[in-house]
Amino acid sequence: MSANPQSSSKGRRPSWRYRLRRPALWLNRWTVERWFDCWFGVETGQLVPLGGLTIPRGDRSLGNHYEPTRVLGLWWLFRALRPLCPPGGAFVDLGCGKGRVLLLASGAGFNVLRGVEFARELCEVARRNCAIYKARRGLACEFQVLEGDVAQFAICAEDQVFFLFNPFGAPVLQQVLDNLSASVRAQPRRVLLVYANPVHQELVQAQSWLHKVLDQSAMGHHFVVYSNEI
Ligand SMILES: C[S@@+](CC[C@H](N)C(=O)[O-])C[C@H]1O[C@@H](n2cnc3c(N)ncnc32)[C@H](O)[C@@H]1O
Repeated sequence: MSANPQSSSKGRRPSWRYRLRRPALWLNRWTVERWFDCWFGVETGQLVPLGGLTIPRGDRSLGNHYEPTRVLGLWWLFRALRPLCPPGGAFVDLGCGKGRVLLLASGAGFNVLRGVEFARELCEVARRNCAIYKARRGLACEFQVLEGDVAQFAICAEDQVFFLFNPFGAPVLQQVLDNLSASVRAQPRRVLLVYANPVHQELVQAQSWLHKVLDQSAMGHHFVVYSNEI
């Protein structure tokens, strides 16, 4: 039986298998999200609005609330990044929230997993999650969660892969891109910029030194990856 209603004969209703596909996919995602937190004893799933959080630095009105990238999306992404990633180096999640991306990036061969987050309470949860996950998996890599505004984050020479899950508005993204460009000019190296659900993609596309190397929708996310191709 075909799962595609287009291929069924005219006037027929979609098959029950087709009608069950969407809820089954949703259930699958929901189960994996829950399983990840339960299995590793971490808490990354719950969405958190920024109102009520302690944000000493940065413009709260330009930030988006905490919402994690889906586990299945991250599994897909890190497999796809494998052939593109420079070896070793540091992975940086700009607006890391509770640190889920750092946890999953630890399986991709980075020496350092660095998260920058301006909400104090989220930093505390991220640090706890990283410590639990590291002990649970017996990992040798280093996790760092830095409290602060990404626009002020001092990018260093070992930072090679940068991740954004639509964390903030255009002015902050523009500042981050300027900082990244200055860092690459000062310390020439190959970098990758992963932009998930790229709402302000036009700002990245305007950077003549960056080229799109991957553009794919997977597991409920749209991932676009840019590189300077050094
Ligand atoms: C959509 S969540 C993404 C969380 C995580 N990167 C993930 O994909 O699972 C965006 C996060 O960016 C943080 N954020 C927003 N603006 C920021 C800024 N200017 N500096 C640091 N963090 C920021 C928010 O507090 C929130 O936790």
